Amino acid sequence: MNKNKGHNKQARAFAPATVSNVGSGFDVLGFAIEQPEDVVSVRFTGGSGIKIVNLSPFPLPEDPMLNTAGKGVYELLRHTGNENAGIEILIEKKIWPGSGIGSSAACTVAAVLAANALLGGPLTKEELFPFCLSGEAAASKSRHADNVAPALLGGFCLVESIDPLNVVSLPVPDFLYCSVVLPSIIIQTAEARRMLKPEIPLELAVKQWARLGTLVAGLYSRNANWIGKGMEDAIIEPQREKLIPGFYRVKLAAIEAGALNCTISGSGPSVFALSEGEKTALLAGNAMKKVFEEMEIGCELYVSKAGAEGARIIQDGP
Ligand code: HSE
Repeated sequence: MNKNKGHNKQARAFAPATVSNVGSGFDVLGFAIEQPEDVVSVRFTGGSGIKIVNLSPFPLPEDPMLNTAGKGVYELLRHTGNENAGIEILIEKKIWPGSGIGSSAACTVAAVLAANALLGGPLTKEELFPFCLSGEAAASKSRHADNVAPALLGGFCLVESIDPLNVVSLPVPDFLYCSVVLPSIIIQTAEARRMLKPEIPLELAVKQWARLGTLVAGLYSRNANWIGKGMEDAIIEPQREKLIPGFYRVKLAAIEAGALNCTISGSGPSVFALSEGEKTALLAGNAMKKVFEEMEIGCELYVSKAGAEGARIIQDGP
């Protein structure tokens, strides 16, 4: 039986970069930003097996099982009884791998969403989560959803549980802007996870959950001061800051420029600040960038509203 009969011939999807952890919310909190983004197209080949076509300006694994897009699509095909379908995955990444702004999540989310559309849309976005988490794990070796959730759904997400899945969408005050500075160094998430101590002293845990609660309360009550205080990270930032040259100088520069707070985006090396208003976010972002540039580390700055739109099907393509 031809399982591809009646299905669309090609589908294409966009997924945004995301900032995860947001300081105190390690592995449970994340939000989407407006740029950069990944775009993935999928099409039937008429043969069998998954083929990766990398149209990005940097290398990606060609083995579908090691590629975040390939792995996610493979799991979706298996689940929907299409494991014998031949699929080509064309990847146009703008998010650098190892950048700390959800590169693997965006790639797998765009690929899985496009593949679902190619199959005629059998599953809802929420039902696509497990396949995206498998794709994310191909790179990071861990099934955390704090990038996948905002990449797929957009906005500001709190992942209460992965199994069973429960993602809480948090309100985002419209004054909240994010400056992300991506220095030209690479940190692999898997390594940045391995370095973390598995145990947390009780006094640090107490600080952390007080701050996470304060951050969430700040989002609900539009209290910028609480958002800034709530971002402070007592546990992960002190362990990972050594991976980012001049991290505390960058953080200080952002705060002195008026940001509410500044910390590591995901597992780094990107550093982000949240600010009240776009003007302050630009000032903070440029101050952070300047510190890296003084150390002769080139970097990109992205300023966007916090909590942008999530993944979507788009037209046009190769
Ligand atoms: N929560 C994850 C971490 C995000 O910090 O390791 C990186 O993908």
